[in-house]
Amino acid sequence: MKLEKCLTEKNVNQNMLNISYAVRGPILQRALHIERELEKGVKKPFRRVVRANIGDCHALGQPPVTFIRQVLALAACPALAASPDVPDDVKLRVRELLDDCTKGSVGAYSPSAGLTLVRRRVAQFLAARDGVPASPDDVYLGAGASDLIKALLGLFVQHVDGKPPAVMIPIPQYPLFSGTLSELGLRQANYYLDEEHDWALQLQELERSWREASQESHVRALVVINPGNPTGQVLTRDNMQEIIKFAYEHQLFILADEVYQENIISKPFHSFKKVMHEMGAPYSSMELASFVTCSKGWAAECGLRAGFMEAVRLQEGVRAALEAARAVAQCPSVLGQCALDCVMKPPVAGEPSYPRFSQEKRATLRALGERARTAHREFNSIPGYSCNIIDGSMFAFPRVEIPERAQRAAADAGLQPDEFYCLRLLEETGVCVVPGSGFGQRAGSFHFRSTILHPADEFQHMMDSVRRFHASFTRQYS
Ligand SMILES: Cc1ncc(COP(=O)(O)O)c(C=O)c1O
Repeated sequence: MKLEKCLTEKNVNQNMLNISYAVRGPILQRALHIERELEKGVKKPFRRVVRANIGDCHALGQPPVTFIRQVLALAACPALAASPDVPDDVKLRVRELLDDCTKGSVGAYSPSAGLTLVRRRVAQFLAARDGVPASPDDVYLGAGASDLIKALLGLFVQHVDGKPPAVMIPIPQYPLFSGTLSELGLRQANYYLDEEHDWALQLQELERSWREASQESHVRALVVINPGNPTGQVLTRDNMQEIIKFAYEHQLFILADEVYQENIISKPFHSFKKVMHEMGAPYSSMELASFVTCSKGWAAECGLRAGFMEAVRLQEGVRAALEAARAVAQCPSVLGQCALDCVMKPPVAGEPSYPRFSQEKRATLRALGERARTAHREFNSIPGYSCNIIDGSMFAFPRVEIPERAQRAAADAGLQPDEFYCLRLLEETGVCVVPGSGFGQRAGSFHFRSTILHPADEFQHMMDSVRRFHASFTRQYS
């Protein structure tokens, strides 16, 4: 008897078939395969693969912050407190955290929105950042920002006035958004960032996107990624005011992805919460959800999966629905919450951990700034490349000229021109970057995203490899 599968491509959730996440896509799969080949001694024109596909700082050599790791070690194993090597402020922090854990154990579930202490610390952090009061009741902890963004977007899965819901997202965008919209069955309304003006959000373009999407859908929310990924821009306050007014006029809920707020290189960061508040009525009464994570900034603890959302001015029934959905997922990792606590309230001058902490933090931020400036300079010095200034985040997103003949060769291979380019770059140099088509880009323009976090010599090796490759690729296809 033929055994039929219960679950097939035809009857599986069709939304899930549409998810794509280029950051871990086919180019990375090929890079992993090449790494295995190199281990087996297969000869290649390079000795190692340089992974520049993902913003994972620790994977690229950034050392963890000692204070965070000491707190985690002690929280997991309180007996270590007997060690004379553990600073007193670490012991105190762990006592506070464990006092807030059921039976003093990080192995017990926490409340589903997170430990009370940590939510209070988040609110203090936000109030200090913005000069605007913040309430722990508006703070939800999660398994990274991704978890919370998905939870919030889930609230919009509902037809309104007979029309399917749509969410406006930037192009280029971080594919968490396109992937999550696909999964939830929400429509994606693209608005293009203006590459000629440092990837700004132009009001005209927002209006165009809204108008077009509104013909068939009800546009419910506007996603803004600031600082940008992959684009690296930091929005000016004026631009943010325009965006807020636009959202107000069209009754859009703003989702502010502000996960790179500590990765600031050359322009000041303003939070949407603060700008809305300073604009006064009616804008200061708008709903808003903003997202911060432990995966970025100086902590960069991606693997601990910790972040938070501040969701303000939600209607009570909506808040209850969100909280019920969060309760079903139990709670985020309690060790992750402990790491978030350290990020929200790092050591301060006068505390035993402060000298080491401030030296570690400074070194990380200095390296980020240097790398951003080098990437900008080096990419722009390659004929056929242009790269906007990197104001924040941890990526470069250079634009690359791909000759017509190479575009035809890509089509023959069933690939997008930028995929073809990135695949050839990988095969010939070992450099693994993500094609711009994985983030979206204007038709006829080609980009790739590269992280800029490698140690300086590795980074220089990568830039030299890209330069050599581009010259030979252009010669071959011109
Ligand atoms: C713009 C942006 N938002 C959200 C995330 C999600 O981060 P996490 O889920 O690790 O907190 C990332 C991760 O790279 C990101 O780049």
